Amino acid sequence: MLRLFHHFISIVRNPQTIALMPFENNVAWITGASSGIGEALAYALSNRGAKLILSSRREEALKEVKEKCAGDPAHIQVLPLDLAATDTLEKKAQQALDRYGDIDYLFNNGGISQRSLAVDTNFEVLRKVMEVNFFGSVALTKALLPSMIERQSGHIVVTSSVMGKFGTRLRSSYAASKHALHGYFDSLRQEVHEHNIRVTLVCPGFVKTDVTRNMLEGDGSRHNKMGKGQQDGLSPDAFAEKLLPKISRGKNEIYIGGKEIVGVYLKRWAPGLLNKLLLKSDVT
Ligand SMILES: NC(=O)c1ccc[n+]([C@@H]2O[C@H](COP(=O)([O-])OP(=O)(O)OC[C@H]3O[C@@H](n4cnc5c(N)ncnc54)[C@H](OP(=O)(O)O)[C@@H]3O)[C@@H](O)[C@H]2O)c1
Repeated sequence: MLRLFHHFISIVRNPQTIALMPFENNVAWITGASSGIGEALAYALSNRGAKLILSSRREEALKEVKEKCAGDPAHIQVLPLDLAATDTLEKKAQQALDRYGDIDYLFNNGGISQRSLAVDTNFEVLRKVMEVNFFGSVALTKALLPSMIERQSGHIVVTSSVMGKFGTRLRSSYAASKHALHGYFDSLRQEVHEHNIRVTLVCPGFVKTDVTRNMLEGDGSRHNKMGKGQQDGLSPDAFAEKLLPKISRGKNEIYIGGKEIVGVYLKRWAPGLLNKLLLKSDVT
């Protein structure tokens, strides 16, 4: 009831937010928009008439994505940033707010993976993965929250992973960073419910992107090989098309992928069995 009331107030204050289609005329800020899932989200959202802010480190790649987006280029802003440079993100958020006034959706999607035994992983690699995946997403979210609370509206979407629900060999830093997102954003969801702000954690299984090519080895070098799971995984475009209807239904947690998603349910209902299966599985 309270939620409906807040929604009504938000519409009275911002009548332009009554969109004919989900995402139409909404402002969506996507991190990790230069490739993979974030790039596919940019195309899927621009096809639905959203106004976009595209962020990641590589400005040229973001400009190429912008050129391929549908709609008026004036409604697509490129805003380069480094999620690991958390002390710069408040200023970036202010630039985004100055440009559009309000941000309807923040897609905290940018991230980096890791492939190495815990014993062989430099502490700097663990810190880097935590900085990008966890602290970067939290810093951007915190910078936008006051404006969302003021407006009594907003939706924060976080790309976690099935590795946010259970861990495997060779992914200790990555799984830790994704589990941390769940703890933080589950708590935040409870706090911002009364302000009509939604929080959605997205757990992809295998999606055919460069995530494994880009992942860090224990010494910080780039892995540079496509993982078998990703090779056979969903295309990023198919992933984005499955994701957006679930986002617009305001789900708290979303799982999209192949049979690897079963692991999420086994972890909940039969954790011992999952542990045995993972010990026999071929993690690359
Ligand atoms: N593909 C999968 O199978 C899979 C499964 C589960 C979860 N995920 C998650 O999905 C998200 C997107 O990954 P993806 O699969 O699309 O892989 P990807 O193609 O490697 O994309 C990663 C994106 O994150 C950006 N990024 C990396 N480090 C950054 C930094 N320090 N600052 C700002 N942006 C940074 C990259 O852009 P720049 O290089 O331009 O900075 C790129 O746009 C990640 O959070 C990943 O953990 C992927």
